Amino acid sequence: MAKNPLKIMDTILRDAHQSQAATRMKLEDMVPVLPLLDSIGYWSLECWGGATFDVCMRFLNEDPWERLRTLKKGLPNTKLQMLLRGQNLLGYRHYADDVVDAFVKKSIENGIDVVRIFDALNDPRNVQAAVSCVKKYGGWAEVAISYTKSPVHSEDYFVKLSMELEKMGADSICIKDMANLLLPYDAYSLVKKLKENVGVPIHLHTHNTTGTGDMTNLMAAQAGVDIVDCALSPLANGTSQPATEAMVATLQGTSRDTGLDMNKLSEAAAHFRDVAGKLDINPKVLKVDVNTLLYQVPGGMLSNLISQLKQANAEDKYYEVLEEVPRVREDFGFPPLVTPTSQIVGSQAVLNVLSGERYKMVSKESKGLLRGEYGQLPGTVNEEVRKKCIGNDEVITCRPADLIEPEMDKLRAECKEKGLGHSEEDTLSYALFPQVASKFFDWRDNPHPAEPAAPAAAAAPAAAAPKAAPADNSPRALIVEDLTGGNF
Ligand code: CO
Repeated sequence: MAKNPLKIMDTILRDAHQSQAATRMKLEDMVPVLPLLDSIGYWSLECWGGATFDVCMRFLNEDPWERLRTLKKGLPNTKLQMLLRGQNLLGYRHYADDVVDAFVKKSIENGIDVVRIFDALNDPRNVQAAVSCVKKYGGWAEVAISYTKSPVHSEDYFVKLSMELEKMGADSICIKDMANLLLPYDAYSLVKKLKENVGVPIHLHTHNTTGTGDMTNLMAAQAGVDIVDCALSPLANGTSQPATEAMVATLQGTSRDTGLDMNKLSEAAAHFRDVAGKLDINPKVLKVDVNTLLYQVPGGMLSNLISQLKQANAEDKYYEVLEEVPRVREDFGFPPLVTPTSQIVGSQAVLNVLSGERYKMVSKESKGLLRGEYGQLPGTVNEEVRKKCIGNDEVITCRPADLIEPEMDKLRAECKEKGLGHSEEDTLSYALFPQVASKFFDWRDNPHPAEPAAPAAAAAPAAAAPKAAPADNSPRALIVEDLTGGNF
């Protein structure tokens, strides 16, 4: 056994299929391999949260809570990890603290051990409530820094932020490089600095979108990172994580030898090769994305821009929009480009180009961002732009969730009155995705044909993303459409 083995979290049950196959892996395709996965000795298995919750109900007719309980039963010896978007939980708005409390409580009760919590703006106030709830209910609070590049986001900035998050109670710090922007030598340097300044374990999450993921993981391992994220090879690489087997083999016989058994990994990979064969995987997700290296715009965001421009019959404006993105980002104080800010900045760039005048048309979400409704923007906002977008509206400087009244009692009453669901878990599903959950309960709780034609799937896009003609530029609609993208 190596003195300092590198620990591995495998993302095969969450980010891998979210990034390559629109989160469509079904529970029945996981269950047969759980005993084998459980025997491998991973630090944790990421298997819940992110887009899985929404997709379970919307497209797979699965109860996400039931999925979690089944995974827990099949994986008694491995920590189960989930991804949580801070005060947004798994939804697309800020929730009241009592919803955060109830959601975290039920997640841990039903089987989650490690909760990775992040905020798109890296505003510590947006993760605070979730961190204290995870600790209160006995979970492991892993707080993520959303990695990005900008004049504000220096190495020093991330080190200071990590120290603050450690003080807040983080049990580990994750460098969340959702767009694979963290280059190998920068990873080495950042991890070194974090190891010098932070006492809790450092966990690296990257993707292979720009083709540098394996090198980034390896350099981080050299610098002493404690845990890295990989995915079993059948759903690895491209917009997903680097392959587990490649990392394990690379480190064999070194001081960072993971100790994982290649034969077991290969046996698990054989199972997922069959599963991957059933999933709808666009070969494009495996290509090296050079535009991201050039423009530092996440891969998922580029495909969103293209689809928005297509809808508006303005594909010829692609490069103009691509150049407008960094300008909007600068005006808005350099938010990291991750859900939901990637959609907000991207859509605004499209509006700026298509309307022929910058900020002549401003989306509701851009206004919200500039009013401080998503939290504090990392850099200085262009005040001229802010004035043009929101006039004399008040800019919030408090923690956004402080302005939200408790919601749980109201939600419980609403569910009871409408006869929706029959547990606290159901109320939480409803809290996050009211329309999708209502349809799902209706299907689950009433007699239905044995082979349903996924009613939620057929009706969902219209319900979730009301189309505003001619092009729906609503960032919310785009988030729902873009459940792939390697943006998480
Ligand atoms: Co990810």
